[in-house]
Amino acid sequence: MDTVEKVQRELPRTTALDIERVLISEEQIAERVGELAREIEDCYKTSGKKLLLLGILKGSVVFMAELMKQLRVHVEIDFMQVSSYGSGTTSGNIKILLDLARDDIKECDILIVEDIIDSGKTLSYLVEYLKLRGAASVRTVTLLDKPSRRTVDFSPDFRGFEIPDYFVVGYGLDFDEKYRALPFIGVLKPELYEK
Ligand code: PRP
Repeated sequence: MDTVEKVQRELPRTTALDIERVLISEEQIAERVGELAREIEDCYKTSGKKLLLLGILKGSVVFMAELMKQLRVHVEIDFMQVSSYGSGTTSGNIKILLDLARDDIKECDILIVEDIIDSGKTLSYLVEYLKLRGAASVRTVTLLDKPSRRTVDFSPDFRGFEIPDYFVVGYGLDFDEKYRALPFIGVLKPELYEK
């Protein structure tokens, strides 16, 4: 199990001092991602289409890298980037900053890869958008899920961990673009975002 002390020793140049505690360790994540990989392989085993892992930048990159390493089937990868705008991140609309640019979408089973689901708006929008573009199928996998924060009715097809409404960072997740490189999911000290 990771401890904050161990992380401070191993990653002295990071801002590990800002982490209150480790919520999910690197080892726990790797084990769970392995289980997800087996579920995903099973789901697509009779499809015959290309399996496209579609990472949503930026938070998904670490989870995406671990997942693609653990999958024992051929996958292709691509990325999109979106942002929320309007009245805040939980009630705003979705704007596409980087679109999926390929002409074989109809031959792809798209698996959207996310680090976290909060309100559910990002994935609700993207699933409908990619279906409209003619994908053979569209499913979703998220490392973390905060169902208590939902403002729209949405459930992922595959989920790593369900977590309470903690302010979590690491393993791709940021606060003010920091902490993404931490190898675990940590809870940020409240004094950092309550200023
Ligand atoms: C986060 C996360 C999801 C989205 C989830 O991205 O990676 O894309 O928010 O929130 P929702 O369920 O309320 O739509 P963020 O906008 O923080 O961008 P980032 O991935 O670049 O950090």
